[in-house]
Amino acid sequence: MKAAIRYQYGPPQLLSIGEVPQPVPEAHEILVRVYATTVNRTDCAVLTGWPLAIRAFTGLNKPKLPITGTDFAGQVEAVGQEVSNIKIGDKVWGFNDIGLESHAQYLCIAASGNVLAMPKNTSYEAAVASAEAAHYAVNFLNKIKLHAGQKVLVNGGTGAIGSAAIQLLKAMDVQVTAVCGTPHLAKIQALGADRVIDYTAEDFTQLNEQFDFVLDAVGKSTFFKCKRLLKPGGAYISSELGPGWQNIFLALTTPIIGGKKVIFPIPTDIKKSMLVVKELIEAGKFHPLMDRTYPLEKISEAFEYVGSGQKIGNVIIDLAD
Ligand SMILES: NC(=O)c1ccc[n+]([C@@H]2O[C@H](COP(=O)([O-])OP(=O)(O)OC[C@H]3O[C@@H](n4cnc5c(N)ncnc54)[C@H](OP(=O)(O)O)[C@@H]3O)[C@@H](O)[C@H]2O)c1
Repeated sequence: MKAAIRYQYGPPQLLSIGEVPQPVPEAHEILVRVYATTVNRTDCAVLTGWPLAIRAFTGLNKPKLPITGTDFAGQVEAVGQEVSNIKIGDKVWGFNDIGLESHAQYLCIAASGNVLAMPKNTSYEAAVASAEAAHYAVNFLNKIKLHAGQKVLVNGGTGAIGSAAIQLLKAMDVQVTAVCGTPHLAKIQALGADRVIDYTAEDFTQLNEQFDFVLDAVGKSTFFKCKRLLKPGGAYISSELGPGWQNIFLALTTPIIGGKKVIFPIPTDIKKSMLVVKELIEAGKFHPLMDRTYPLEKISEAFEYVGSGQKIGNVIIDLAD
Protein backbone atom coordinates (compact mmCIF):
# COMPACT_ATOMS: atom_id res chain seq x y z
CA MET A 1 0.00 0.00 0.00
CA LYS A 2 1.01 3.65 -0.42
CA ALA A 3 1.95 5.60 2.72
CA ALA A 4 3.73 8.78 3.84
CA ILE A 5 6.86 7.70 5.70
CA ARG A 6 9.67 9.29 7.68
CA TYR A 7 12.21 7.78 10.10
CA GLN A 8 13.27 10.87 12.05
CA TYR A 9 11.74 14.08 13.39
CA GLY A 10 12.10 17.06 11.10
CA PRO A 11 10.55 19.19 8.37
CA PRO A 12 8.00 18.01 5.76
CA GLN A 13 10.78 17.43 3.20
CA LEU A 14 11.74 14.31 5.18
CA LEU A 15 8.45 12.69 4.25
CA SER A 16 8.36 10.41 1.25
CA ILE A 17 5.60 8.37 -0.34
CA GLY A 18 6.57 4.72 -0.38
CA GLU A 19 5.16 1.21 -0.77
CA VAL A 20 4.86 -0.64 2.55
CA PRO A 21 3.15 -3.92 3.45
CA GLN A 22 -0.57 -3.61 4.20
CA PRO A 23 -1.13 -4.08 7.97
CA VAL A 24 -2.91 -7.22 9.19
CA PRO A 25 -5.48 -6.79 11.99
CA GLU A 26 -4.90 -8.55 15.29
CA ALA A 27 -7.81 -10.33 17.00
CA HIS A 28 -9.07 -7.12 18.67
CA GLU A 29 -8.49 -4.83 15.66
CA ILE A 30 -10.19 -3.73 12.46
CA LEU A 31 -8.56 -3.07 9.09
CA VAL A 32 -9.74 0.20 7.51
CA ARG A 33 -9.36 1.31 3.91
CA VAL A 34 -8.67 5.00 4.44
CA TYR A 35 -10.50 7.29 2.00
CA ALA A 36 -9.75 10.65 3.63
CA THR A 37 -7.41 11.96 6.28
CA THR A 38 -6.19 15.46 7.19
CA VAL A 39 -2.95 17.23 7.80
CA ASN A 40 -3.57 19.16 11.00
CA ARG A 41 -1.57 21.05 13.62
CA THR A 42 -1.24 17.91 15.74
CA ASP A 43 0.31 16.13 12.73
CA CYS A 44 2.82 18.98 12.46
CA ALA A 45 3.85 18.41 16.09
CA VAL A 46 4.11 14.63 15.57
CA LEU A 47 6.15 15.19 12.39
CA THR A 48 8.62 17.64 13.87
CA GLY A 49 8.70 16.32 17.47
CA TRP A 50 8.06 19.88 18.57
CA PRO A 51 7.05 21.01 21.20
CA LEU A 52 9.47 18.51 22.78
CA ALA A 53 6.87 17.34 25.33
CA ILE A 54 5.09 15.43 22.55
CA ARG A 55 8.10 13.06 22.30
CA ALA A 56 7.13 11.55 25.66
CA PHE A 57 4.29 9.92 23.71
CA THR A 58 5.59 9.67 20.13
CA GLY A 59 9.20 8.53 20.78
CA LEU A 60 12.11 10.32 22.47
CA ASN A 61 14.84 10.28 19.81
CA LYS A 62 12.94 9.13 16.77
CA PRO A 63 9.27 8.58 15.97
CA LYS A 64 7.85 5.26 17.14
CA LEU A 65 5.51 5.26 14.14
CA PRO A 66 7.18 5.83 10.76
CA ILE A 67 3.90 6.57 8.97
CA THR A 68 2.36 9.96 9.83
CA GLY A 69 -1.34 10.75 10.32
CA THR A 70 -3.65 11.12 13.30
CA ASP A 71 -7.16 10.87 11.82
CA PHE A 72 -9.10 8.96 9.18
CA ALA A 73 -12.44 8.26 7.59
CA GLY A 74 -12.86 5.06 5.62
CA GLN A 75 -14.46 1.68 5.28
CA VAL A 76 -13.84 -1.50 7.27
CA GLU A 77 -12.26 -4.23 5.11
CA ALA A 78 -11.54 -6.89 7.74
CA VAL A 79 -12.14 -7.49 11.45
CA GLY A 80 -10.23 -9.59 14.00
CA GLN A 81 -11.99 -12.65 15.44
CA GLU A 82 -12.66 -10.93 18.80
CA VAL A 83 -14.42 -7.90 17.23
CA SER A 84 -18.19 -7.85 17.57
CA ASN A 85 -19.10 -4.11 17.59
CA ILE A 86 -17.91 -3.30 14.05
CA LYS A 87 -18.43 -5.25 10.84
CA ILE A 88 -16.91 -5.40 7.36
CA GLY A 89 -18.33 -2.63 5.16
CA ASP A 90 -19.01 -0.19 8.01
CA LYS A 91 -17.99 3.41 7.35
CA VAL A 92 -15.89 4.59 10.28
CA TRP A 93 -13.86 7.60 11.41
CA GLY A 94 -11.26 8.00 14.11
CA PHE A 95 -8.57 10.13 15.70
CA ASN A 96 -5.63 9.68 18.01
CA ASP A 97 -3.47 12.67 18.88
CA ILE A 98 -0.26 10.64 19.22
CA GLY A 99 -0.58 9.03 15.81
CA LEU A 100 -2.54 6.39 13.95
CA GLU A 101 -0.41 5.97 10.80
CA SER A 102 -3.43 7.21 8.85
CA HIS A 103 -1.51 8.90 6.01
CA ALA A 104 -1.77 5.56 4.23
CA GLN A 105 -4.24 3.56 2.19
CA TYR A 106 -4.90 1.13 5.07
CA LEU A 107 -4.56 1.16 8.85
CA CYS A 108 -5.41 -1.10 11.77
CA ILE A 109 -7.00 0.19 14.95
CA ALA A 110 -8.39 -1.52 18.06
CA ALA A 111 -12.16 -1.83 17.73
CA SER A 112 -12.42 -0.42 21.26
CA GLY A 113 -10.18 2.56 20.34
CA ASN A 114 -11.09 6.06 19.19
CA VAL A 115 -13.19 4.87 16.27
CA LEU A 116 -16.91 5.36 15.64
CA ALA A 117 -19.44 4.74 12.91
CA MET A 118 -19.35 7.81 10.64
CA PRO A 119 -22.09 10.39 11.20
CA LYS A 120 -25.08 9.71 8.93
CA ASN A 121 -25.20 11.48 5.56
CA THR A 122 -21.62 12.72 5.78
CA SER A 123 -18.81 12.46 3.27
CA TYR A 124 -15.46 10.93 4.24
CA GLU A 125 -13.94 14.42 3.88
CA ALA A 126 -16.47 16.11 6.18
CA ALA A 127 -16.22 13.32 8.76
CA VAL A 128 -12.45 13.46 8.98
CA ALA A 129 -12.54 17.28 9.13
CA SER A 130 -14.69 16.94 12.26
CA ALA A 131 -12.16 14.98 14.28
CA GLU A 132 -8.93 16.64 15.49
CA ALA A 133 -9.82 20.30 15.99
CA ALA A 134 -13.41 19.58 16.96
CA HIS A 135 -12.08 17.30 19.71
CA TYR A 136 -9.92 20.12 21.06
CA ALA A 137 -12.77 22.63 20.80
CA VAL A 138 -15.12 20.31 22.73
CA ASN A 139 -12.45 19.81 25.38
CA PHE A 140 -11.58 23.49 25.70
CA LEU A 141 -15.25 24.39 26.17
CA ASN A 142 -15.79 21.49 28.58
CA LYS A 143 -13.52 23.23 31.03
CA ILE A 144 -15.97 26.10 31.57
CA LYS A 145 -19.59 26.26 32.72
CA LEU A 146 -21.49 27.59 29.74
CA HIS A 147 -25.15 28.43 29.47
CA ALA A 148 -27.46 30.05 26.94
CA GLY A 149 -27.17 33.81 26.66
CA GLN A 150 -23.59 34.08 27.87
CA LYS A 151 -21.10 36.01 25.77
CA VAL A 152 -17.90 34.44 24.43
CA LEU A 153 -15.21 35.96 22.22
CA VAL A 154 -13.37 33.54 19.93
CA ASN A 155 -10.04 34.82 18.61
CA GLY A 156 -9.02 32.97 15.45
CA GLY A 157 -12.43 32.09 14.05
CA THR A 158 -10.91 30.79 10.80
CA GLY A 159 -8.70 28.22 12.54
CA ALA A 160 -9.78 24.61 12.72
CA ILE A 161 -10.34 24.86 16.49
CA GLY A 162 -11.91 28.34 16.31
CA SER A 163 -14.36 27.44 13.54
CA ALA A 164 -15.41 24.31 15.45
CA ALA A 165 -15.75 26.26 18.72
CA ILE A 166 -18.06 28.86 17.14
CA GLN A 167 -20.47 26.11 16.08
CA LEU A 168 -20.31 24.31 19.43
CA LEU A 169 -21.05 27.58 21.22
CA LYS A 170 -23.95 28.43 18.92
CA ALA A 171 -25.40 24.95 19.52
CA MET A 172 -25.50 26.00 23.21
CA ASP A 173 -27.19 29.34 22.36
CA VAL A 174 -24.18 31.31 23.51
CA GLN A 175 -23.61 34.76 21.95
CA VAL A 176 -20.42 34.58 19.91
CA THR A 177 -18.11 37.37 18.78
CA ALA A 178 -15.44 35.95 16.46
CA VAL A 179 -12.20 37.53 15.28
CA CYS A 180 -10.69 36.81 11.85
CA GLY A 181 -8.99 38.40 8.84
CA THR A 182 -10.76 40.40 6.09
CA PRO A 183 -11.06 37.70 3.38
CA HIS A 184 -12.99 35.32 5.61
CA LEU A 185 -15.56 37.52 7.36
CA ALA A 186 -18.52 36.06 5.44
CA LYS A 187 -17.38 32.46 6.04
CA ILE A 188 -17.22 33.00 9.77
CA GLN A 189 -20.57 34.78 9.82
CA ALA A 190 -22.01 31.76 8.00
CA LEU A 191 -20.81 29.49 10.82
CA GLY A 192 -23.25 31.34 13.07
CA ALA A 193 -21.12 33.97 14.80
CA ASP A 194 -23.33 36.83 16.01
CA ARG A 195 -20.62 39.38 15.31
CA VAL A 196 -17.36 39.15 13.39
CA ILE A 197 -14.43 41.47 13.99
CA ASP A 198 -11.81 41.99 11.29
CA TYR A 199 -8.47 41.93 13.09
CA THR A 200 -6.82 43.91 10.31
CA ALA A 201 -9.23 46.82 10.91
CA GLU A 202 -9.84 46.67 14.65
CA ASP A 203 -7.93 45.55 17.74
CA PHE A 204 -10.46 43.37 19.56
CA THR A 205 -8.64 43.80 22.88
CA GLN A 206 -9.74 47.47 22.83
CA LEU A 207 -13.49 46.69 22.62
CA ASN A 208 -15.67 48.50 25.14
CA GLU A 209 -17.52 45.36 26.03
CA GLN A 210 -17.09 42.43 28.40
CA PHE A 211 -17.39 38.68 27.90
CA ASP A 212 -17.90 35.68 30.15
CA PHE A 213 -15.06 33.88 28.40
CA VAL A 214 -12.37 34.63 25.84
CA LEU A 215 -11.26 31.60 23.83
CA ASP A 216 -8.00 32.35 22.06
CA ALA A 217 -8.29 29.50 19.59
CA VAL A 218 -5.06 30.41 17.77
CA GLY A 219 -3.09 31.44 20.85
CA LYS A 220 -2.10 34.78 19.33
CA SER A 221 -3.12 36.98 22.25
CA THR A 222 -2.47 36.81 26.00
CA PHE A 223 -4.42 36.86 29.25
CA PHE A 224 -3.01 40.28 30.11
CA LYS A 225 -4.17 41.77 26.79
CA CYS A 226 -7.62 40.19 27.13
CA LYS A 227 -8.13 40.70 30.88
CA ARG A 228 -10.08 43.95 30.48
CA LEU A 229 -12.52 42.16 28.18
CA LEU A 230 -13.47 39.65 30.86
CA LYS A 231 -16.43 40.12 33.18
CA PRO A 232 -15.64 39.68 36.89
CA GLY A 233 -15.06 35.94 37.37
CA GLY A 234 -14.57 35.49 33.61
CA ALA A 235 -11.90 33.20 32.15
CA TYR A 236 -9.32 33.24 29.36
CA ILE A 237 -8.61 29.94 27.61
CA SER A 238 -5.88 29.57 25.01
CA SER A 239 -4.94 26.75 22.65
CA GLU A 240 -1.28 27.67 23.18
CA LEU A 241 1.08 27.82 26.15
CA GLY A 242 1.62 31.58 25.71
CA PRO A 243 4.88 33.55 25.95
CA GLY A 244 7.28 31.75 28.33
CA TRP A 245 4.60 29.07 28.86
CA GLN A 246 2.78 31.66 31.02
CA ASN A 247 -0.63 30.06 30.58
CA ILE A 248 0.39 27.06 32.68
CA PHE A 249 1.68 29.28 35.49
CA LEU A 250 -1.36 31.57 35.27
CA ALA A 251 -3.76 28.61 35.27
CA LEU A 252 -2.20 27.51 38.57
CA THR A 253 -2.12 30.94 40.21
CA THR A 254 -5.10 33.00 38.96
CA PRO A 255 -7.79 30.68 40.47
CA ILE A 256 -6.12 31.08 43.91
CA ILE A 257 -6.04 34.87 43.63
CA GLY A 258 -9.69 34.95 42.57
CA GLY A 259 -11.44 37.18 40.01
CA LYS A 260 -10.56 36.83 36.35
CA LYS A 261 -8.64 33.65 35.60
CA VAL A 262 -6.78 31.55 33.07
CA ILE A 263 -7.85 28.00 32.36
CA PHE A 264 -5.30 25.75 30.66
CA PRO A 265 -7.32 23.07 28.93
CA ILE A 266 -5.76 19.62 28.85
CA PRO A 267 -7.70 17.63 26.25
CA THR A 268 -8.91 14.18 27.30
CA ASP A 269 -11.32 11.45 26.16
CA ILE A 270 -11.25 11.68 22.39
CA LYS A 271 -14.08 9.20 21.85
CA LYS A 272 -16.44 11.25 24.03
CA SER A 273 -15.70 14.41 22.00
CA MET A 274 -16.27 12.50 18.78
CA LEU A 275 -19.68 11.40 20.07
CA VAL A 276 -20.61 15.02 20.90
CA VAL A 277 -19.59 16.18 17.42
CA LYS A 278 -21.27 13.22 15.70
CA GLU A 279 -24.57 14.10 17.36
CA LEU A 280 -24.27 17.74 16.26
CA ILE A 281 -23.42 16.76 12.68
CA GLU A 282 -26.45 14.47 12.52
CA ALA A 283 -28.62 17.30 13.91
CA GLY A 284 -27.33 19.60 11.15
CA LYS A 285 -25.60 21.83 13.70
CA PHE A 286 -21.97 21.22 12.78
CA HIS A 287 -20.37 21.72 9.37
CA PRO A 288 -16.57 21.56 9.42
CA LEU A 289 -14.76 24.38 7.69
CA MET A 290 -12.68 22.87 4.90
CA ASP A 291 -9.81 24.41 3.00
CA ARG A 292 -7.69 22.69 0.36
CA THR A 293 -7.55 19.03 -0.64
CA TYR A 294 -4.26 17.39 -1.62
CA PRO A 295 -3.48 13.94 -3.02
CA LEU A 296 -1.21 11.77 -0.82
CA GLU A 297 1.67 12.38 -3.23
CA LYS A 298 1.61 16.09 -2.29
CA ILE A 299 1.48 15.58 1.46
CA SER A 300 4.74 17.46 2.07
CA GLU A 301 3.14 20.51 0.43
CA ALA A 302 0.09 20.05 2.66
CA PHE A 303 2.34 19.99 5.74
CA GLU A 304 4.11 23.17 4.56
CA TYR A 305 0.77 24.91 4.12
CA VAL A 306 -0.61 23.80 7.49
CA GLY A 307 2.66 24.74 9.20
CA SER A 308 2.41 28.25 7.70
CA GLY A 309 -0.51 28.96 10.08
CA GLN A 310 -2.70 30.18 7.21
CA LYS A 311 -5.13 27.35 6.69
CA ILE A 312 -8.84 27.98 6.95
CA GLY A 313 -10.29 25.16 9.00
CA ASN A 314 -9.13 21.75 7.80
CA VAL A 315 -6.78 20.50 5.08
CA ILE A 316 -7.82 17.18 3.55
CA ILE A 317 -5.72 14.40 2.03
CA ASP A 318 -7.79 12.48 -0.52
CA LEU A 319 -6.93 8.77 -0.61
CA ALA A 320 -9.86 7.59 -2.69
CA ASP A 321 -7.70 6.51 -5.67
N1 LIG B 1 -3.53 22.74 23.17
C1 LIG B 1 -3.68 21.71 22.32
O1 LIG B 1 -3.90 20.58 22.74
C2 LIG B 1 -3.60 21.97 20.85
C3 LIG B 1 -3.93 20.96 19.94
C4 LIG B 1 -3.90 21.25 18.58
C5 LIG B 1 -3.51 22.51 18.16
N2 LIG B 1 -3.13 23.43 19.07
C6 LIG B 1 -2.71 24.78 18.68
O2 LIG B 1 -3.91 25.49 18.48
C7 LIG B 1 -3.68 26.52 17.54
C8 LIG B 1 -4.82 26.51 16.57
O3 LIG B 1 -4.82 25.33 15.80
P1 LIG B 1 -5.75 25.30 14.51
O4 LIG B 1 -5.51 24.03 13.79
O5 LIG B 1 -7.12 25.67 14.89
O6 LIG B 1 -5.10 26.54 13.78
P2 LIG B 1 -5.05 26.84 12.26
O7 LIG B 1 -6.24 26.24 11.61
O8 LIG B 1 -3.70 26.51 11.74
O9 LIG B 1 -5.20 28.43 12.34
C9 LIG B 1 -4.90 29.16 11.21
C10 LIG B 1 -5.84 30.31 11.14
O10 LIG B 1 -5.55 31.22 12.19
C11 LIG B 1 -5.75 32.52 11.72
N3 LIG B 1 -4.93 33.52 12.42
C12 LIG B 1 -3.59 33.59 12.43
N4 LIG B 1 -3.20 34.64 13.16
C13 LIG B 1 -4.31 35.22 13.64
C14 LIG B 1 -4.56 36.34 14.48
N5 LIG B 1 -3.58 37.06 14.99
N6 LIG B 1 -5.83 36.64 14.77
C15 LIG B 1 -6.84 35.92 14.30
N7 LIG B 1 -6.68 34.85 13.48
C16 LIG B 1 -5.42 34.51 13.17
C17 LIG B 1 -5.33 32.44 10.28
O11 LIG B 1 -6.06 33.40 9.56
P3 LIG B 1 -5.30 34.59 8.80
O12 LIG B 1 -4.58 33.95 7.66
O13 LIG B 1 -6.41 35.50 8.45
O14 LIG B 1 -4.35 35.20 9.81
C18 LIG B 1 -5.71 31.03 9.85
O15 LIG B 1 -6.96 30.98 9.23
C19 LIG B 1 -2.32 26.25 16.91
O16 LIG B 1 -1.40 27.18 17.44
C20 LIG B 1 -1.99 24.84 17.36
O17 LIG B 1 -0.62 24.64 17.52
C21 LIG B 1 -3.20 23.20 20.41
